Amino acid sequence: MSNHYFRNTRVLITGATGGIGQALALELAQRGAQVIAAGRNHAKLQQLAECSQHDQHPIQTCVFDVTDFKQTLAAAQKIHQLLGGIDMVILNAAVMYQGSFDTLTVDQCQEMVNTNYLSLLYGVKAFVPLLEHSAIPHLVGMSSILSYLYTPENFVYSSTKAAGSHFLFGLAHELKNKNISLSVISPGRINTGMSKKSTLANVPAMDLNKAIKSILIGLEKRKSEIILPYSQCLAVKLYAKLPCTIRRKLDIVSYSLLSTLKRTQV
Ligand SMILES: NC(=O)c1ccc[n+]([C@@H]2O[C@H](COP(=O)([O-])OP(=O)(O)OC[C@H]3O[C@@H](n4cnc5c(N)ncnc54)[C@H](OP(=O)(O)O)[C@@H]3O)[C@@H](O)[C@H]2O)c1
Repeated sequence: MSNHYFRNTRVLITGATGGIGQALALELAQRGAQVIAAGRNHAKLQQLAECSQHDQHPIQTCVFDVTDFKQTLAAAQKIHQLLGGIDMVILNAAVMYQGSFDTLTVDQCQEMVNTNYLSLLYGVKAFVPLLEHSAIPHLVGMSSILSYLYTPENFVYSSTKAAGSHFLFGLAHELKNKNISLSVISPGRINTGMSKKSTLANVPAMDLNKAIKSILIGLEKRKSEIILPYSQCLAVKLYAKLPCTIRRKLDIVSYSLLSTLKRTQV
């Protein structure tokens, strides 16, 4: 991997106030990219910008809520004025609520649909015209390995991620006509605030820095899908290829294992 690949590349990252988005922003800034870190929390973005003050291009910030199309369009206009275009857009923001469907509220379900799915549609509408000004345009969507399967207490979240992947892969043809590369990132469990809340606590979490390094290797190669870590990727792909009846039986086993685990943790 070349250390120069991202130098002077103009990158927008949504959901940059924590976890993967924040770590990507810092690493890209260190590698000389012109990073615009976006989020809805101004104070957290300012702290992030201060961390990169000594980089070649200190991180710039942009406050907007990805579930609001008007705010997303205004952000695109601001970035256009600031940088004249953008080379890479990483649509990363998401939320996750877990629990049986009985316990999830309609508000939580709506927030997941709006943040994890609709925001991708808004982001593409607002930022693809900016990518069209770039000589090296690259659209990146953050999905999840859970887009390939549903697990107890996570299936509403995973269905929003599956919808997001479906939308992005469906868009690939139109993007290709505009010479825009597309990468969909489908991580397994990575050590962040989101994964710490997860009911999948028995699944090992990948170290955040290692995850960032392998994501950037994939982005540099402009891979159409980046799945990590490899072990989880393989297991999920094998599971997804099983006949439906066998998958249902495995689901029943995993549901009861999870309930037993929860009972013994109380
Ligand atoms: N960590 C994992 O194990 C894992 C696995 C698979 C996929 N992913 C995906 O990776 C991405 C990053 O996850 P993470 O683990 O880094 O989660 P995280 O630490 O919870 O970060 C999520 C980010 O999204 C932002 N966000 C949420 N709603 C927003 C909104 N309406 N407008 C703007 N920003 C909003 C959050 O901002 P606030 O600070 O304002 O809340 C935060 O910066 C997500 O797409 C997630 O689905 C993560």
